[in-house]
Amino acid sequence: MDVFVDDLLSRMTVEEKIGQMHQLAPGRAGMEADWLREAVRKGEIGTMLAPGEPALLNEVQRIAVEESRLGIPLIYAHDVIHGYKTVFPIPLGLAATFNPAIVEKGSEIAAMEARSAGMRWTFAPMVDVSRDPRWGRIAESFGEDPYMNAVMGVATVRGFQKDTTSEYLNVAACAKHFVGYGAAEGGKDYNTTHVTEDQLRDVYLAPFKALADEGVASFMCAFNDINGRPMSGNRPVAVDILRDEWGYDGVMVSDWGSIAQMVPHGYCTDLKDAAGRAVEGGVDIDMESRAYATHLKELLEEGKISERDLDRSVRNILCMKWKLGLFENPYTEVGGEKFCLPSSLEASREAAVESAVLLKNDGMLPLQCKGRIAVVGPLADAPVEQLGTWCGRADEDAPVSAVEAVRAECAGKASVVFEPGLTFSRGRSEKGIAKAVRAAESADVVLFFAGEERILSGEARCRADITLPGAQKEMMKALKKTGKPIVLVVMAGRPLAVAEEIEMADAVIYAFHGGTMAGPALSDLIFGKAVPSGRLPVCLPRMAGQIPVYYNRRNTGRPAHNIVMLDDIPIGARQSTLGHTSYYLDAGDGPLYTFGYGLSYTTFEYGPVTLSSSEITSGDVLKASCEVRNTGNADAYETVQLYVRDDVGSMTRPVRELKGFRKILIPAGESRKVEFTLTSEDLKYWNIGQGFIAEPGTYTLWIAPDSASGTGVNFELI
Ligand code: GLC
Repeated sequence: MDVFVDDLLSRMTVEEKIGQMHQLAPGRAGMEADWLREAVRKGEIGTMLAPGEPALLNEVQRIAVEESRLGIPLIYAHDVIHGYKTVFPIPLGLAATFNPAIVEKGSEIAAMEARSAGMRWTFAPMVDVSRDPRWGRIAESFGEDPYMNAVMGVATVRGFQKDTTSEYLNVAACAKHFVGYGAAEGGKDYNTTHVTEDQLRDVYLAPFKALADEGVASFMCAFNDINGRPMSGNRPVAVDILRDEWGYDGVMVSDWGSIAQMVPHGYCTDLKDAAGRAVEGGVDIDMESRAYATHLKELLEEGKISERDLDRSVRNILCMKWKLGLFENPYTEVGGEKFCLPSSLEASREAAVESAVLLKNDGMLPLQCKGRIAVVGPLADAPVEQLGTWCGRADEDAPVSAVEAVRAECAGKASVVFEPGLTFSRGRSEKGIAKAVRAAESADVVLFFAGEERILSGEARCRADITLPGAQKEMMKALKKTGKPIVLVVMAGRPLAVAEEIEMADAVIYAFHGGTMAGPALSDLIFGKAVPSGRLPVCLPRMAGQIPVYYNRRNTGRPAHNIVMLDDIPIGARQSTLGHTSYYLDAGDGPLYTFGYGLSYTTFEYGPVTLSSSEITSGDVLKASCEVRNTGNADAYETVQLYVRDDVGSMTRPVRELKGFRKILIPAGESRKVEFTLTSEDLKYWNIGQGFIAEPGTYTLWIAPDSASGTGVNFELI
């Protein structure tokens, strides 16, 4: 590769080098436009966000390969985030599976579909740690934990890039958005971020380091400024850390227009200045700012950038094209699309089953398929809404809605009545609720599908109020008055503040947006054809006012103690009578449900944790194990989680940190020994002033079913 690339590079003109650094989104109309084909013929474009139309793509590719001076092929890209035609649960839901294998499988299927449509580069995985459900893009993340984002991000990279038929990459993946995008102030998209050095290292950079180590083909810099520097021109992070410290040699592409946005950021005077700052900041490809195409030549002539700068970026780009095998075969088979295969739909259904989290069950679930079942809520019959955000190429005829799946399941066994109650999930008109109530009164049980339409999450879709939209809460109250047992199913792109609705329900499944097969998956769970195994990848807050609320927090010097809630405060209480610890008078302390939480149709018992030693040195491997028993009567998966706390550090340390998890099937009545290993590497954190260190002292370790349970055991790092 290096010989080939160096030779090609040596033969390129400055204009051709700048062309490789230019990415645009021509849209379908553009692919046929003479201006575009002429630009390709001149070598002025290197990569494109392209339509999935192989014949058209091959036409333009042929111009690049056969008519341009050097015949350098294009890379066609698309945002294949959680499926291409067959849609999987949103990444937040995929994280809830706690099953990296199913995430990898989903990415393999997405890669197969996308590549068959001519796409060779996806702008995924997004591994922005997200602790703010107001932020619409929490939907695209793997949640609030750095380790989870790393594990699922690596699984996604493997799924996309692995090609079992050649030594080339199948579909190039892209670690985004580098970095700190999820720390947007107020959960408002594109907003400024202030991230301390230790948080930057331990929380936000950690998943990206895992992807760089995994060999992800590209990175995408984020829109946001972090500590005063926009990531499209942030040399200390995007060059000094990513390139020099980590040795990353893949491609860095800007986000859409993010180079140009350094002008409104107030960081650059104009597009030309922005182009120079982006080159200095290590951005190889300019997506849709046209800053590079317009200004790099003059910046070079003015000596503000060097040809060495161009060569560095062009080499990264040419190497990516080589790794994709494009110099050998740049074309896509026409008519070879492999969309929505039965096996793909089945994998999507399995992922949707595993992504749903059973939060509450008073014994009502699993339902028997008999009598009369009322299905209510506008999202019960919203097959496209259940796809979630970022699935622009989805087959919108393929999704099976919840009501359709319930009807199919109950055919010949139970009668099903459906009333949406609201015209759509944001509907504020309560006129239709009476019909839903009548349907409920006529039935034995009620299945209420509530939540968000998909437009309410994703990019630039932030909500300051994260309760159920529209009159859904009013509908829940009306249904509750019927006295009928209610299963509440929440289909959303974020954690919602639904404490009151959960209180009114007899059983609650939090399903996120489950994709093409969400309906059948939910039906399988409701009627017991599948056992819930999802676990929360984010805390569920009681209300937005608590945000940020996440499990791996610091303890403070006054952790919550003797909480007195607002309604319980005696009238005339003296200021000194309520104690002084860290909690809210109207929300108490901690989330409604914590990270890692989820119920099953069986129960599990954890035995005591056994450690291979009570102390380790930096070279040792500590083994921690315990017996987990399925004490119920349903075979089921349990997600056994390993947490560690550095009890005393030279900086305050989180009360728990996830260091491992294992999802295992345990047959009813049986037990399994689950073992984890730890080394001092797993105990390192970024100490401001000393860098990554693992400090001697006592640690507490849990093997538990969630981030708030379990009996800790101690060991010493000496
Ligand atoms: C968008 C998103 C980014 C996406 C890119 C291309 O604005 O921020 O995640 O990959 O533009 O669509």
